[in-house]
Amino acid sequence: MEMKFMHLFFLVSLTVNFTEESDVIGSHEPVKATVGQDVILPCHLEPPSDVSTLTVEWKQDEKQVHRYRSGADDLAGQDENFKDRTSLFHEEMTRGNISLKLTKVTERDAGTYTCHVPKLHSQVRKGKVTLTVESMDDPDKGRQTNKTARVPGIVIGCVIGFIIVLIAFYTWRRKHKQRQL
Ligand SMILES: *[C@@H]1O[C@H](CO)[C@@H](O)[C@H](O)[C@H]1NC(C)=O
Ligand SMILES: *[C@@H]1O[C@H](CO)[C@@H](O)[C@H](O)[C@H]1NC(C)=O
Repeated sequence: MEMKFMHLFFLVSLTVNFTEESDVIGSHEPVKATVGQDVILPCHLEPPSDVSTLTVEWKQDEKQVHRYRSGADDLAGQDENFKDRTSLFHEEMTRGNISLKLTKVTERDAGTYTCHVPKLHSQVRKGKVTLTVESMDDPDKGRQTNKTARVPGIVIGCVIGFIIVLIAFYTWRRKHKQRQL
């Protein structure tokens, strides 16, 4: 009788540990994307466990990016910026993979994202992923054109200043000469 009870207890605690003692792991490396690209923000449970019956929340600061609840996507509170551009890999979720797919990336998407499984009993229930977004042009090229755009501004300013001084000087000299005559 007592042995049976022990077995049952072991089975229950094993199940509980498998489903609720996993940590949520994001990514230390920032994810890079170019404007217009599709990107996957990686996040998974370690050790892997089925999260298809739990709530999964993706956020960017306070903005709600994507929410999954009671076995389906729940996008009622989703931020406008992410409308129709997010998805989870539902079939992967049974293996603890809660990576987010974000399509048609814009510069506004850049920032830190968190993947969150509130119901877990582990220490780490949130993972972090940073997304950096580059514009279509090479960013170094962009910086250079900025610099070269600033230099002509200074040159033009100097030339105009010099011309004004020159005109002022000649007008003054002419008036001075006329007075002398
Ligand atoms: C489940 O986890 C608890 C606490 O983390 C531990 O005490 C217990 O032995 C674990 N049970 C099994 C079956 O691994
Ligand atoms: C999660 O699923 C995505 C999409 O299939 C895949 O690219 C990624 O490698 C998976 N991550 C893990 C940890 O299995």
